[in-house]
Amino acid sequence: MSRAFGKVLLFGEHAVVHGVPAIAAGLPLDVVARVAPSSDGLWRVEAPSWRLSEQGASSRVVQALSALAHALHLPAPMTVTLDAAVPAGAGLGSSAAMAIAVGRALLEFYGKAIPDEALFDAAMASERVFHGNPSGLDHMAAMRGGVFRFLRGQPPVAEPLTLATPLQLVVAQVDRGGDTGQLVAGVAQRRLTHPATFDHLLASFRSVVDDATTALTTGRLAYVGELMNINHGLLSAIGVSTASLDVAVHAAREAGALGAKLTGAGGGGCMIALVDATTCQAVQSTLKAVSQKQWTVVLPC
Ligand code: MEV
Repeated sequence: MSRAFGKVLLFGEHAVVHGVPAIAAGLPLDVVARVAPSSDGLWRVEAPSWRLSEQGASSRVVQALSALAHALHLPAPMTVTLDAAVPAGAGLGSSAAMAIAVGRALLEFYGKAIPDEALFDAAMASERVFHGNPSGLDHMAAMRGGVFRFLRGQPPVAEPLTLATPLQLVVAQVDRGGDTGQLVAGVAQRRLTHPATFDHLLASFRSVVDDATTALTTGRLAYVGELMNINHGLLSAIGVSTASLDVAVHAAREAGALGAKLTGAGGGGCMIALVDATTCQAVQSTLKAVSQKQWTVVLPC
């Protein structure tokens, strides 16, 4: 039995796929994986909280987990049971948390120890089943937690960020998230159609992430909030926000949030609002009206 955690993307989702740094934070919402050898030679995955019960090679979840097991050189079919507090498909890193938790459980089951880099590479092989061009940011967050700045690459670079002040976030799931693969492919297509405009947009994402790095590590929370608003505008510009996300983001700001943005791949899913002790309750109750589920988390210094 092993676990891994979901994540929120504070800044730079999507742009990170195109080589811009991003800032992520591990969430205290986990996926616990249990593995046992299959009795009939078929992979099986049961995740009651995701209403998922799948078996055999036609299931994408099974394809992802068997790609993971192959990459770990542990290819025997298994029965996998997932106990997940991270919602599925909402932009909070459920597939990455599943891959890391199952990878750890398989390694533990077979008594095999490998470096984190090898587990990361194996989890990337599994994510490629869901979307062709993952940056690796979600997997890094599932593996290490904490707040960090990430740059994709071979190898990827993850630098821990020490917050000067704790960050209190209300995370709200407005609806079911979009398909990450389609959203990432849509952004890549728009970049091909508008290359010069995208160069400017990616430069703006980079400057938001750079400014946010400084603001987070010097405790300028109001400025962090403004940068979140700008980041949301950039995500709208590249086509990954939706009417429901925009409604929730604006409602949170009007209720007093220091800033608000969608988080993750978009196309629905979750948004985050930065709050403080004076605004938390008003933002929570405003978001209740426009979301299905919410969590309030504090990212510590
Ligand atoms: C999805 O959580 C984050 C994206 O940037 C995709 C990725 O980084 O692979 C949209």
